[in-house]
Amino acid sequence: MITLDYRNADISVVGQNHGLDIASEFTRYKSRIAEIIADLNKRKDKPGQWLQWMNLGYNEETLWYVKEYASLVRNRFENILVLGIGGSALGGLAVTEALLKPYWNLLTPEQRDNFPRIFFLDNIDPDTVSGLLHILDLKKTLVNVITKSGSTAETMSQFMVIKNLMKEKLGDDYRKHIVATTDRQTGVLRQISEQEGYKTFVVPDDVGGRFSVFSAVGLLPFALVGIDIDEIMNGIKDMDLALKNTDINENIAAQNALIQFLMDTKKEKHLSVMMPYSSRLKYVSDWYVQLWAESLGKNVDNNGNAVNVGQTPIKALGATDQHSQIQLYNEGPNDKIINFIRVENFDTTVDIPRIFEYTGIGYLGGKTMNDLLNAEADSTKVSLSDYERPSVTITMPKINGYYLAQLLYMFEVQTAIAGELYNINAFNQPGVEQSKNYTYALMGRAGYEDSAQMLQAKMSHI
Ligand code: PA5
Repeated sequence: MITLDYRNADISVVGQNHGLDIASEFTRYKSRIAEIIADLNKRKDKPGQWLQWMNLGYNEETLWYVKEYASLVRNRFENILVLGIGGSALGGLAVTEALLKPYWNLLTPEQRDNFPRIFFLDNIDPDTVSGLLHILDLKKTLVNVITKSGSTAETMSQFMVIKNLMKEKLGDDYRKHIVATTDRQTGVLRQISEQEGYKTFVVPDDVGGRFSVFSAVGLLPFALVGIDIDEIMNGIKDMDLALKNTDINENIAAQNALIQFLMDTKKEKHLSVMMPYSSRLKYVSDWYVQLWAESLGKNVDNNGNAVNVGQTPIKALGATDQHSQIQLYNEGPNDKIINFIRVENFDTTVDIPRIFEYTGIGYLGGKTMNDLLNAEADSTKVSLSDYERPSVTITMPKINGYYLAQLLYMFEVQTAIAGELYNINAFNQPGVEQSKNYTYALMGRAGYEDSAQMLQAKMSHI
Protein backbone atom coordinates (compact mmCIF):
# COMPACT_ATOMS: atom_id res chain seq x y z
CA MET A 1 0.00 0.00 0.00
CA ILE A 2 1.05 3.64 -0.38
CA THR A 3 2.09 5.25 2.90
CA LEU A 4 1.95 8.68 4.54
CA ASP A 5 4.81 10.04 6.65
CA TYR A 6 3.78 13.15 8.61
CA ARG A 7 6.75 13.46 10.99
CA ASN A 8 7.97 16.63 9.28
CA ALA A 9 4.70 18.37 10.10
CA ASP A 10 5.13 17.67 13.81
CA ILE A 11 6.27 20.17 16.46
CA SER A 12 9.17 17.87 17.26
CA VAL A 13 10.67 18.60 13.82
CA VAL A 14 9.40 22.02 12.72
CA GLY A 15 8.77 23.57 16.12
CA GLN A 16 5.84 24.85 18.11
CA ASN A 17 5.03 27.83 15.87
CA HIS A 18 4.73 25.97 12.60
CA GLY A 19 4.18 22.33 13.55
CA LEU A 20 1.26 20.43 15.00
CA ASP A 21 1.32 18.21 18.04
CA ILE A 22 0.08 15.45 15.80
CA ALA A 23 -0.40 12.69 18.37
CA SER A 24 -2.49 14.99 20.56
CA GLU A 25 -4.51 16.27 17.60
CA PHE A 26 -5.26 12.72 16.48
CA THR A 27 -6.55 12.00 19.98
CA ARG A 28 -8.54 15.22 20.12
CA TYR A 29 -10.20 14.56 16.72
CA LYS A 30 -10.51 10.78 17.08
CA SER A 31 -14.26 10.66 17.62
CA ARG A 32 -15.05 13.48 15.14
CA ILE A 33 -13.07 11.68 12.43
CA ALA A 34 -14.72 8.34 13.24
CA GLU A 35 -18.10 10.05 12.96
CA ILE A 36 -17.21 11.63 9.58
CA ILE A 37 -15.98 8.37 8.07
CA ALA A 38 -18.98 6.40 9.30
CA ASP A 39 -21.31 9.10 8.03
CA LEU A 40 -19.72 9.26 4.55
CA ASN A 41 -20.04 5.49 4.24
CA LYS A 42 -23.63 5.60 5.44
CA ARG A 43 -24.63 8.38 3.03
CA LYS A 44 -22.73 7.16 -0.01
CA ASP A 45 -25.61 5.22 -1.58
CA LYS A 46 -28.25 7.89 -1.00
CA PRO A 47 -29.26 9.90 -4.06
CA GLY A 48 -28.37 13.58 -3.99
CA GLN A 49 -25.35 13.18 -1.69
CA TRP A 50 -22.81 13.26 -4.56
CA LEU A 51 -20.92 10.36 -3.00
CA GLN A 52 -21.38 7.76 -5.73
CA TRP A 53 -17.68 8.10 -6.57
CA MET A 54 -17.12 5.98 -3.44
CA ASN A 55 -18.76 3.06 -5.27
CA LEU A 56 -16.90 3.31 -8.58
CA GLY A 57 -14.29 0.71 -7.63
CA TYR A 58 -17.05 -1.88 -7.52
CA ASN A 59 -18.81 -0.99 -10.77
CA GLU A 60 -18.27 -4.30 -12.60
CA GLU A 61 -20.89 -3.47 -15.22
CA THR A 62 -19.12 -0.36 -16.49
CA LEU A 63 -15.83 -2.23 -16.40
CA TRP A 64 -17.28 -4.94 -18.59
CA TYR A 65 -18.84 -2.56 -21.15
CA VAL A 66 -15.69 -0.46 -21.35
CA LYS A 67 -13.48 -3.49 -21.92
CA GLU A 68 -15.79 -4.92 -24.53
CA TYR A 69 -16.05 -1.69 -26.53
CA ALA A 70 -12.32 -0.95 -26.22
CA SER A 71 -11.35 -4.40 -27.46
CA LEU A 72 -13.65 -4.04 -30.46
CA VAL A 73 -12.47 -0.64 -31.63
CA ARG A 74 -8.91 0.09 -30.50
CA ASN A 75 -7.19 -1.73 -33.34
CA ARG A 76 -9.14 0.31 -35.86
CA PHE A 77 -7.69 3.66 -34.81
CA GLU A 78 -4.28 5.26 -34.81
CA ASN A 79 -5.36 8.08 -32.46
CA ILE A 80 -7.72 8.64 -29.56
CA LEU A 81 -8.73 12.29 -29.19
CA VAL A 82 -10.35 13.15 -25.87
CA LEU A 83 -12.41 16.35 -25.75
CA GLY A 84 -13.20 17.57 -22.24
CA ILE A 85 -12.23 20.14 -19.64
CA GLY A 86 -11.73 20.25 -15.84
CA GLY A 87 -12.92 17.04 -14.24
CA SER A 88 -13.65 15.59 -17.67
CA ALA A 89 -9.98 15.79 -18.69
CA LEU A 90 -7.59 16.10 -15.75
CA GLY A 91 -7.96 12.55 -14.39
CA GLY A 92 -7.42 11.12 -17.87
CA LEU A 93 -4.32 13.25 -18.35
CA ALA A 94 -2.92 12.35 -14.92
CA VAL A 95 -3.36 8.60 -15.35
CA THR A 96 -2.23 8.28 -18.97
CA GLU A 97 0.86 10.41 -18.35
CA ALA A 98 1.74 8.26 -15.33
CA LEU A 99 1.02 4.81 -16.74
CA LEU A 100 1.83 4.93 -20.45
CA LYS A 101 5.43 4.66 -21.55
CA PRO A 102 7.03 8.12 -21.54
CA TYR A 103 6.68 10.03 -24.85
CA TRP A 104 3.93 7.59 -25.83
CA ASN A 105 2.73 9.56 -28.84
CA LEU A 106 6.24 9.66 -30.30
CA LEU A 107 6.70 5.88 -30.16
CA THR A 108 6.24 3.63 -33.20
CA PRO A 109 3.11 1.43 -33.31
CA GLU A 110 5.28 -1.59 -32.43
CA GLN A 111 6.74 0.22 -29.42
CA ARG A 112 3.17 0.99 -28.35
CA ASP A 113 2.17 -2.68 -28.84
CA ASN A 114 -0.13 -1.33 -31.56
CA PHE A 115 -2.26 0.63 -29.12
CA PRO A 116 -3.32 4.08 -30.35
CA ARG A 117 -1.74 7.41 -29.50
CA ILE A 118 -3.80 9.62 -27.18
CA PHE A 119 -4.39 13.37 -27.23
CA PHE A 120 -6.36 15.49 -24.77
CA LEU A 121 -7.81 18.76 -25.99
CA ASP A 122 -8.73 20.58 -22.78
CA ASN A 123 -8.60 24.14 -24.00
CA ILE A 124 -9.95 26.25 -26.81
CA ASP A 125 -6.85 28.11 -27.84
CA PRO A 126 -7.49 28.40 -31.60
CA ASP A 127 -3.79 27.93 -32.41
CA THR A 128 -3.44 24.65 -30.50
CA VAL A 129 -6.80 23.34 -31.71
CA SER A 130 -5.96 23.94 -35.35
CA GLY A 131 -2.37 22.78 -34.76
CA LEU A 132 -3.60 19.45 -33.45
CA LEU A 133 -6.07 19.08 -36.30
CA HIS A 134 -3.19 19.51 -38.72
CA ILE A 135 -1.32 16.55 -37.30
CA LEU A 136 -4.23 14.16 -36.73
CA ASP A 137 -5.62 12.13 -39.58
CA LEU A 138 -9.31 12.17 -38.67
CA LYS A 139 -9.92 9.07 -40.78
CA LYS A 140 -7.76 7.19 -38.25
CA THR A 141 -9.04 8.95 -35.14
CA LEU A 142 -11.63 8.02 -32.53
CA VAL A 143 -13.05 11.06 -30.72
CA ASN A 144 -14.19 10.59 -27.13
CA VAL A 145 -16.22 13.67 -26.21
CA ILE A 146 -16.71 13.88 -22.44
CA THR A 147 -19.06 16.29 -20.71
CA LYS A 148 -21.40 15.52 -17.84
CA SER A 149 -23.60 18.58 -18.38
CA GLY A 150 -23.50 18.03 -22.14
CA SER A 151 -23.26 21.74 -22.84
CA THR A 152 -19.89 23.03 -21.59
CA ALA A 153 -18.93 25.70 -24.13
CA GLU A 154 -15.26 24.69 -24.46
CA THR A 155 -15.95 21.01 -25.03
CA MET A 156 -18.98 21.45 -27.24
CA SER A 157 -17.30 24.06 -29.43
CA GLN A 158 -14.38 21.67 -29.97
CA PHE A 159 -16.84 18.93 -30.75
CA MET A 160 -18.74 21.06 -33.26
CA VAL A 161 -15.55 21.94 -35.12
CA ILE A 162 -14.31 18.36 -35.20
CA LYS A 163 -17.62 16.68 -35.97
CA ASN A 164 -18.04 18.99 -38.93
CA LEU A 165 -14.58 18.15 -40.27
CA MET A 166 -15.18 14.44 -39.74
CA LYS A 167 -18.43 14.54 -41.63
CA GLU A 168 -16.71 16.26 -44.55
CA LYS A 169 -13.92 13.69 -44.59
CA LEU A 170 -15.78 10.50 -43.76
CA GLY A 171 -19.35 10.99 -44.94
CA ASP A 172 -21.88 9.07 -42.88
CA ASP A 173 -19.15 6.85 -41.45
CA TYR A 174 -18.14 9.68 -39.10
CA ARG A 175 -20.57 8.35 -36.48
CA LYS A 176 -18.37 5.31 -35.91
CA HIS A 177 -15.55 7.68 -35.01
CA ILE A 178 -17.37 9.29 -32.09
CA VAL A 179 -18.02 7.98 -28.61
CA ALA A 180 -19.73 10.26 -26.11
CA THR A 181 -19.44 10.08 -22.31
CA THR A 182 -22.20 12.12 -20.73
CA ASP A 183 -25.17 12.10 -18.37
CA ARG A 184 -27.50 9.10 -18.58
CA GLN A 185 -30.55 11.18 -19.52
CA THR A 186 -30.11 14.91 -19.59
CA GLY A 187 -28.07 17.42 -21.58
CA VAL A 188 -27.62 18.38 -25.20
CA LEU A 189 -24.87 15.87 -25.88
CA ARG A 190 -27.17 13.03 -24.77
CA GLN A 191 -29.83 14.33 -27.19
CA ILE A 192 -27.37 14.69 -30.08
CA SER A 193 -25.92 11.22 -29.40
CA GLU A 194 -29.33 9.63 -29.57
CA GLN A 195 -30.34 11.50 -32.69
CA GLU A 196 -27.10 10.72 -34.47
CA GLY A 197 -26.59 7.20 -33.12
CA TYR A 198 -23.22 7.56 -31.37
CA LYS A 199 -21.92 4.94 -29.00
CA THR A 200 -22.28 6.36 -25.48
CA PHE A 201 -21.02 5.82 -21.95
CA VAL A 202 -22.47 7.31 -18.81
CA VAL A 203 -21.10 9.76 -16.24
CA PRO A 204 -22.98 8.23 -13.30
CA ASP A 205 -25.49 10.19 -11.25
CA ASP A 206 -24.09 11.85 -8.15
CA VAL A 207 -20.49 11.78 -9.39
CA GLY A 208 -19.06 15.28 -9.89
CA GLY A 209 -16.51 15.93 -12.63
CA ARG A 210 -13.49 16.11 -10.32
CA PHE A 211 -14.47 12.79 -8.70
CA SER A 212 -15.17 11.01 -12.00
CA VAL A 213 -11.76 9.62 -12.99
CA PHE A 214 -12.72 6.03 -12.12
CA SER A 215 -16.02 6.12 -14.03
CA ALA A 216 -16.19 5.66 -17.81
CA VAL A 217 -14.78 9.23 -18.00
CA GLY A 218 -11.35 7.78 -17.25
CA LEU A 219 -11.73 4.04 -17.71
CA LEU A 220 -12.68 4.27 -21.38
CA PRO A 221 -9.65 6.26 -22.58
CA PHE A 222 -7.42 4.11 -20.35
CA ALA A 223 -8.72 0.86 -21.84
CA LEU A 224 -8.46 2.24 -25.37
CA VAL A 225 -4.70 2.74 -24.97
CA GLY A 226 -4.14 -0.60 -23.26
CA ILE A 227 -3.92 0.45 -19.59
CA ASP A 228 -4.87 -2.45 -17.32
CA ILE A 229 -8.12 -1.20 -15.79
CA ASP A 230 -8.53 -4.30 -13.61
CA GLU A 231 -5.34 -3.31 -11.82
CA ILE A 232 -6.80 0.17 -11.29
CA MET A 233 -10.01 -1.27 -9.85
CA ASN A 234 -8.01 -3.47 -7.47
CA GLY A 235 -6.10 -0.44 -6.23
CA ILE A 236 -9.31 1.49 -5.52
CA LYS A 237 -10.92 -1.46 -3.75
CA ASP A 238 -7.93 -2.12 -1.49
CA MET A 239 -7.61 1.54 -0.61
CA ASP A 240 -11.36 1.86 -0.06
CA LEU A 241 -11.21 -1.03 2.39
CA ALA A 242 -8.31 0.59 4.25
CA LEU A 243 -10.08 3.97 4.36
CA LYS A 244 -13.27 2.50 5.79
CA ASN A 245 -11.30 2.17 9.02
CA THR A 246 -12.78 4.82 11.33
CA ASP A 247 -9.66 4.95 13.52
CA ILE A 248 -7.61 7.99 12.54
CA ASN A 249 -4.45 6.20 13.58
CA GLU A 250 -5.04 3.67 10.80
CA ASN A 251 -6.54 5.88 8.08
CA ILE A 252 -4.09 7.90 5.97
CA ALA A 253 -6.79 9.95 4.18
CA ALA A 254 -8.19 11.09 7.53
CA GLN A 255 -4.69 11.83 8.83
CA ASN A 256 -3.75 14.01 5.87
CA ALA A 257 -7.16 15.72 5.79
CA LEU A 258 -6.79 16.69 9.45
CA ILE A 259 -3.17 17.78 9.08
CA GLN A 260 -3.93 20.02 6.07
CA PHE A 261 -7.05 21.41 7.79
CA LEU A 262 -5.27 22.24 11.05
CA MET A 263 -2.25 23.66 9.24
CA ASP A 264 -4.61 25.99 7.37
CA THR A 265 -6.84 26.97 10.28
CA LYS A 266 -4.34 26.98 13.20
CA LYS A 267 -0.92 27.52 11.68
CA GLU A 268 -1.70 29.87 8.80
CA LYS A 269 -0.53 27.43 6.13
CA HIS A 270 -3.02 28.67 3.58
CA LEU A 271 -1.13 27.13 0.64
CA SER A 272 -0.88 23.40 -0.05
CA VAL A 273 1.90 22.46 -2.45
CA MET A 274 1.76 19.14 -4.31
CA MET A 275 5.28 18.12 -5.32
CA PRO A 276 5.82 14.66 -6.78
CA TYR A 277 9.39 13.57 -7.39
CA SER A 278 8.52 11.93 -10.71
CA SER A 279 7.80 13.53 -14.08
CA ARG A 280 5.28 10.80 -14.73
CA LEU A 281 3.20 12.15 -11.83
CA LYS A 282 3.32 15.74 -13.07
CA TYR A 283 -0.37 15.85 -14.03
CA VAL A 284 -1.41 14.23 -10.75
CA SER A 285 -0.65 17.67 -9.33
CA ASP A 286 -2.95 19.35 -11.87
CA TRP A 287 -5.69 16.89 -10.97
CA TYR A 288 -5.13 17.44 -7.23
CA VAL A 289 -5.17 21.21 -7.65
CA GLN A 290 -8.65 21.06 -9.15
CA LEU A 291 -9.90 18.56 -6.58
CA TRP A 292 -8.65 20.53 -3.58
CA ALA A 293 -9.50 24.01 -4.91
CA GLU A 294 -12.93 23.38 -6.36
CA SER A 295 -14.06 21.18 -3.48
CA LEU A 296 -12.89 23.26 -0.53
CA GLY A 297 -12.90 26.85 -1.77
CA LYS A 298 -16.34 27.94 -0.54
CA ASN A 299 -18.01 31.08 0.79
CA VAL A 300 -20.84 29.53 2.76
CA ASP A 301 -20.81 26.71 5.30
CA ASN A 302 -23.33 23.91 5.82
CA ASN A 303 -25.25 26.08 8.29
CA GLY A 304 -25.62 28.92 5.82
CA ASN A 305 -22.98 31.13 7.48
CA ALA A 306 -20.79 33.31 5.29
CA VAL A 307 -17.22 32.00 5.32
CA ASN A 308 -14.28 32.13 2.92
CA VAL A 309 -12.45 28.88 3.35
CA GLY A 310 -10.08 26.66 1.41
CA GLN A 311 -6.35 26.19 1.06
CA THR A 312 -4.84 27.34 -2.22
CA PRO A 313 -3.22 24.34 -3.93
CA ILE A 314 -0.03 24.81 -5.88
CA LYS A 315 1.67 22.43 -8.26
CA ALA A 316 5.38 21.81 -8.21
CA LEU A 317 7.63 19.11 -9.62
CA GLY A 318 10.71 17.59 -8.05
CA ALA A 319 13.53 17.98 -8.82
CA THR A 320 12.74 20.63 -11.48
CA ASP A 321 11.12 23.15 -9.13
CA GLN A 322 13.96 22.96 -6.62
CA HIS A 323 15.57 25.34 -9.09
CA SER A 324 12.51 27.57 -9.25
CA GLN A 325 10.22 27.56 -6.21
CA ILE A 326 12.25 26.15 -3.30
CA GLN A 327 14.00 29.44 -2.57
CA LEU A 328 10.56 30.91 -1.81
CA TYR A 329 9.44 27.85 0.12
CA ASN A 330 12.53 27.90 2.33
CA GLU A 331 12.88 31.62 2.93
CA GLY A 332 9.65 33.33 1.87
CA PRO A 333 6.45 33.50 3.93
CA ASN A 334 5.97 30.43 6.12
CA ASP A 335 2.43 29.92 4.81
CA LYS A 336 2.67 26.52 3.08
CA ILE A 337 2.55 22.84 3.75
CA ILE A 338 4.38 20.78 1.14
CA ASN A 339 3.01 17.38 0.08
CA PHE A 340 5.84 15.33 -1.37
CA ILE A 341 5.15 12.22 -3.41
CA ARG A 342 8.08 9.88 -3.53
CA VAL A 343 8.49 6.79 -5.70
CA GLU A 344 10.49 4.01 -4.11
CA ASN A 345 11.29 1.95 -7.21
CA PHE A 346 11.35 3.37 -10.72
CA ASP A 347 10.77 1.06 -13.69
CA THR A 348 14.27 1.73 -14.97
CA THR A 349 17.65 2.43 -13.51
CA VAL A 350 19.86 4.95 -15.25
CA ASP A 351 23.55 4.64 -14.33
CA ILE A 352 25.65 7.76 -14.38
CA PRO A 353 29.00 6.83 -15.92
CA ARG A 354 32.34 7.63 -14.26
CA ILE A 355 33.68 9.80 -17.04
CA PHE A 356 34.83 12.98 -15.26
CA GLU A 357 37.08 13.29 -12.23
CA TYR A 358 36.44 17.01 -11.59
CA THR A 359 35.76 17.71 -7.91
CA GLY A 360 32.45 19.44 -8.62
CA ILE A 361 30.86 16.54 -10.52
CA GLY A 362 33.12 13.51 -10.09
CA TYR A 363 30.99 12.24 -7.16
CA LEU A 364 28.06 11.66 -9.55
CA GLY A 365 29.92 8.96 -11.51
CA GLY A 366 29.00 5.44 -10.43
CA LYS A 367 25.68 6.54 -8.92
CA THR A 368 22.26 6.28 -10.56
CA MET A 369 19.74 8.97 -11.49
CA ASN A 370 17.36 7.08 -9.23
CA ASP A 371 19.70 7.67 -6.24
CA LEU A 372 20.09 11.29 -7.22
CA LEU A 373 16.36 12.01 -7.51
CA ASN A 374 15.51 10.42 -4.17
CA ALA A 375 18.50 12.09 -2.49
CA GLU A 376 17.17 15.41 -3.79
CA ALA A 377 13.70 14.63 -2.37
CA ASP A 378 15.23 13.83 1.03
CA SER A 379 17.51 16.83 1.09
CA THR A 380 14.71 19.22 0.11
CA LYS A 381 12.56 17.81 2.89
CA VAL A 382 15.33 18.24 5.46
CA SER A 383 16.22 21.73 4.30
CA LEU A 384 12.57 22.77 4.54
CA SER A 385 12.38 21.43 8.09
CA ASP A 386 15.59 23.32 8.98
CA TYR A 387 13.65 26.45 8.05
CA GLU A 388 10.66 25.18 10.12
CA ARG A 389 8.58 24.57 6.99
CA PRO A 390 6.16 21.64 7.45
CA SER A 391 5.80 18.83 4.94
CA VAL A 392 4.27 15.37 4.58
CA THR A 393 5.50 12.60 2.29
CA ILE A 394 3.40 10.03 0.48
CA THR A 395 5.43 7.07 -0.74
CA MET A 396 4.42 4.91 -3.66
CA PRO A 397 6.29 1.58 -3.87
CA LYS A 398 6.29 2.05 -7.67
CA ILE A 399 4.22 3.69 -10.38
CA ASN A 400 1.60 1.29 -11.65
CA GLY A 401 -2.19 1.26 -11.95
CA TYR A 402 -2.60 -0.36 -8.54
CA TYR A 403 -0.68 2.25 -6.55
CA LEU A 404 -1.78 5.19 -8.69
CA ALA A 405 -5.44 4.30 -8.12
CA GLN A 406 -4.72 4.10 -4.39
CA LEU A 407 -3.15 7.54 -4.50
CA LEU A 408 -5.98 9.24 -6.38
CA TYR A 409 -8.71 7.53 -4.39
CA MET A 410 -6.93 8.45 -1.16
CA PHE A 411 -6.93 12.12 -2.22
CA GLU A 412 -10.64 11.94 -3.04
CA VAL A 413 -11.49 10.57 0.40
CA GLN A 414 -9.10 13.05 2.02
CA THR A 415 -10.96 15.87 0.23
CA ALA A 416 -14.36 14.61 1.36
CA ILE A 417 -13.16 14.38 4.98
CA ALA A 418 -11.59 17.83 4.79
CA GLY A 419 -14.91 19.19 3.48
CA GLU A 420 -16.59 17.87 6.61
CA LEU A 421 -13.90 19.39 8.84
CA TYR A 422 -14.43 22.77 7.20
CA ASN A 423 -18.18 22.11 7.44
CA ILE A 424 -18.77 23.01 3.80
CA ASN A 425 -20.25 21.25 0.77
CA ALA A 426 -17.23 19.76 -1.01
CA PHE A 427 -19.31 18.60 -3.97
CA ASN A 428 -20.74 21.76 -5.49
CA GLN A 429 -18.99 24.46 -7.52
CA PRO A 430 -21.16 27.60 -7.68
CA GLY A 431 -18.10 29.74 -8.43
CA VAL A 432 -17.36 27.70 -11.57
CA GLU A 433 -20.99 27.77 -12.66
CA GLN A 434 -21.02 31.56 -12.38
CA SER A 435 -18.24 32.09 -14.88
CA LYS A 436 -19.74 29.41 -17.16
CA ASN A 437 -23.03 31.35 -17.10
CA TYR A 438 -21.29 34.66 -17.84
CA THR A 439 -19.62 33.06 -20.85
CA TYR A 440 -23.00 31.83 -22.12
CA ALA A 441 -24.34 35.38 -21.74
CA LEU A 442 -21.41 36.96 -23.60
CA MET A 443 -21.70 34.41 -26.40
CA GLY A 444 -25.41 35.11 -26.89
CA ARG A 445 -27.02 31.93 -25.51
CA ALA A 446 -30.81 32.27 -25.32
CA GLY A 447 -32.12 32.84 -21.79
CA TYR A 448 -29.03 34.80 -20.70
CA GLU A 449 -30.02 38.20 -22.17
CA ASP A 450 -30.23 40.05 -18.81
CA SER A 451 -26.82 38.82 -17.73
CA ALA A 452 -25.44 39.83 -21.13
CA GLN A 453 -26.68 43.40 -20.67
CA MET A 454 -25.30 43.59 -17.14
CA LEU A 455 -21.92 42.25 -18.29
CA GLN A 456 -21.69 44.67 -21.22
CA ALA A 457 -22.33 47.55 -18.80
CA LYS A 458 -19.65 46.30 -16.37
CA MET A 459 -17.15 45.69 -19.12
CA SER A 460 -17.54 49.18 -20.54
CA HIS A 461 -16.00 50.50 -17.27
CA ILE A 462 -12.96 48.26 -17.45
O1 PA5 B 1 -15.38 19.16 -11.44
C1 PA5 B 1 -16.23 19.74 -12.08
O2 PA5 B 1 -17.44 19.59 -11.85
C2 PA5 B 1 -15.86 20.62 -13.25
O3 PA5 B 1 -14.50 20.83 -13.34
C3 PA5 B 1 -16.34 20.00 -14.55
O4 PA5 B 1 -15.75 18.74 -14.70
C4 PA5 B 1 -16.00 20.89 -15.75
O5 PA5 B 1 -16.55 22.16 -15.58
C5 PA5 B 1 -16.56 20.26 -17.03
O6 PA5 B 1 -17.93 20.07 -16.93
P1 PA5 B 1 -18.69 19.06 -17.89
O7 PA5 B 1 -18.21 17.69 -17.61
O8 PA5 B 1 -20.13 19.24 -17.56
O9 PA5 B 1 -18.37 19.49 -19.28
